[in-house]
Amino acid sequence: MAAALAAHGLEKRYGEVRALAGIDLEVSEGELFGLLGPNGAGKSTLVKIACGLVRPSAGDVMIAGVRAGSREARAALGYLAEMFRFPDWATADEVLALHQRLARSRGGAAERAVLLERVALTHARHRRVEAMSKGMQQRLGIAQALVGAPRILLLDEPTSALDPLGRRTVRDLLAELRQQGVTVLLNSHLLSEVELVCDRVAILRRGELVAGGRPSELGRGGGVEIETASGPRRFPSASREDTPVIVAELVASGERVYGVRRLTSTLEDVYLEAMQGERPT
Ligand SMILES: Nc1ncnc2c1ncn2[C@@H]1O[C@H](COP(=O)(O)OP(=O)(O)OP(=O)(O)O)[C@@H](O)[C@H]1O
Ligand SMILES: [Mg+2]
Repeated sequence: MAAALAAHGLEKRYGEVRALAGIDLEVSEGELFGLLGPNGAGKSTLVKIACGLVRPSAGDVMIAGVRAGSREARAALGYLAEMFRFPDWATADEVLALHQRLARSRGGAAERAVLLERVALTHARHRRVEAMSKGMQQRLGIAQALVGAPRILLLDEPTSALDPLGRRTVRDLLAELRQQGVTVLLNSHLLSEVELVCDRVAILRRGELVAGGRPSELGRGGGVEIETASGPRRFPSASREDTPVIVAELVASGERVYGVRRLTSTLEDVYLEAMQGERPT
């Protein structure tokens, strides 16, 4: 079976700027994939190429086995752009109706109602975009991406404007989509959130992939810290199995042990390590 999204030797130059420097990446069907990296790393460029909005300088992206940008590929995709803006005068329902026409969805009012429900906007169905908060507009943007029940979703920072409750709504929605077998590629700066929801992540830096894998595998064990009467003592290379041995030895040597903590590195630690020497662009 073809990957939901596959990039091969993908390069993009904007004049002097090399936004993507030869990316190979596969997202399997049904996977929830997180793309991380600092501002300007090339995340949005990759997603725009996958949508067919930007043409690569070299290499290609295939969507479910067909070339990105083709009619067939576009029909399989839902897309939430990073800095989208809906017309101020349109209501939530009208925005979705417009996108139903664009996506040739025949879902009608029933589909719109379900989508608004899924992003907790049922109460704002007739509210104009200009009267919505930023977070409400972002949730409407996510509902828009789901019009026509696409099999693959490309979400460029879907939760950047959301409060913790809104993020929870979107996280639950992503879990639901995963259950339905929908593939999701999402760009984000919210590492803890990505760690919670994504099956796999990749970290981009200056157009190159510098790390990738399951969040649990990326965050390696970081040893053991033991609180003793003489202060905290760190054993950075100790494994889980070493812990009772170390404690027994400390106690045998007359040390008083008050606490034991296993140290694990988070996705944030892995990310920051991958960004060493990086400056904001
Ligand atoms: N249309 C464009 N013309 C010229 N340069 C561009 C264009 N779009 C992006 N770039 C440049 O390409 C690089 C990658 O940009 P991109 O928007 O893909 O980064 P990003 O990882 O999405 O960043 P952010 O986290 O800020 O959204 C940047 O150096 C950016 O300035
Ligand atoms: Mg971006």
